Amino acid sequence: MFKPVQIADNVYWVGYRDWNIRNFHGYKTERGSSYNAYLIIDEKITLIDTVKAPYAGKLLENIAQIIDPAKIDYLISNHTEPDHSGSIPAVLAAAPNATLVAVKKGLEGLEKYYGGGWRSIEVKTGDTLDIGRLKLEFIATPMIHWPDSMMTYVHGLELLFSMDAFGQHYATSELFDDEVSYCELMQEAKTYYANIIMHLGSLTKKAIPAVEALPISLVAPSHGVIWRKHFAKIVAEYKKWVDCKPTAKIVIIYDSMWSSTETMAQAIGAAATRDGVCVKLLRIPDNELTNLITEVLDAAVVLVGTPTLNNGMMPTVSAFLTYMTGLKPTGKQFAAFGSHGWRGGGATSVDKVLRDAALDVVCEPLTCVFKPDGDTLAKCAEWGESFAGAALAAVAGQQI
Ligand code: FEO
Repeated sequence: MFKPVQIADNVYWVGYRDWNIRNFHGYKTERGSSYNAYLIIDEKITLIDTVKAPYAGKLLENIAQIIDPAKIDYLISNHTEPDHSGSIPAVLAAAPNATLVAVKKGLEGLEKYYGGGWRSIEVKTGDTLDIGRLKLEFIATPMIHWPDSMMTYVHGLELLFSMDAFGQHYATSELFDDEVSYCELMQEAKTYYANIIMHLGSLTKKAIPAVEALPISLVAPSHGVIWRKHFAKIVAEYKKWVDCKPTAKIVIIYDSMWSSTETMAQAIGAAATRDGVCVKLLRIPDNELTNLITEVLDAAVVLVGTPTLNNGMMPTVSAFLTYMTGLKPTGKQFAAFGSHGWRGGGATSVDKVLRDAALDVVCEPLTCVFKPDGDTLAKCAEWGESFAGAALAAVAGQQI
């Protein structure tokens, strides 16, 4: 599994497949991940990014199967996050004549992480670097995913190293999009977008035209497989995701203590179920936050339920709200519901968090005391029917 693979004329994947990673700073990576580094053999030997620090030896072994690492002339750092920069010190130690290339923020961040003292070239959008037969062009893409992020385009090969954009946390022995399950790939790309990029949607939206303006044969992200067949399709999906474009979907995300809030969730869901509307009931402790936020990405309505614990919401619900509000989903209707005993506080605290995050809360919380009675269940049914109508209205007239 640790051998390099040629992806284009004189360009090799030399990265590391992390088959068993299951937690990537909180993101549950059910299919592992990969840290993609690429080696270009030209008059100037050029390495595009590195891998996580523990796998520096594997990276250097891969490079050594093609060329002596000491011959590397340029090390392009498209992104400072340590999953891509962690082996820069090891590579520069092995390649004493190499020059590090990054944007200003990248060089600053790398110095903070690793101490600096290297030869470097600072680049900005539109700058080019001749490496012999090929010419590299740099495109700064700040905040996709960090301020230091950039993409590197290879003129002559129509190859874009797209960094985190268009990536997937997806370890596979295959290296190209047309060699893996299309459904699995698109699901992983969607999960990756929802959990990593969603809160940067407006910036990503601005970057897409610059990418579309390029002649493209291959798009090689820093995680997952390389796009050579389905790039137009992933761009089309990104154009929906950058706006969190809703589908006719209602997600009811909740926790429950003695089944009262769950009974409310079920009553809302049952009333919302009708032709053309997708309804999902997701109890937080039974689902990963990673998957919950992916369901939120293309929902039209998000209903959050909690019982009252110590005059507030359940800690599980709080964790979900912290994660969701940080990722800033847009274009959805939100509302809170839940049960309480002698004092309220659960659903109203959810309502406050949603409003404080400037999410579109469309009604007051729906609450009940101890156990939903006939009146409460009738109100739940009204909610369900009303939100089903809202979900259908949200997508009416949309271009498919
Ligand atoms: Fe894969 Fe933002 O690093």
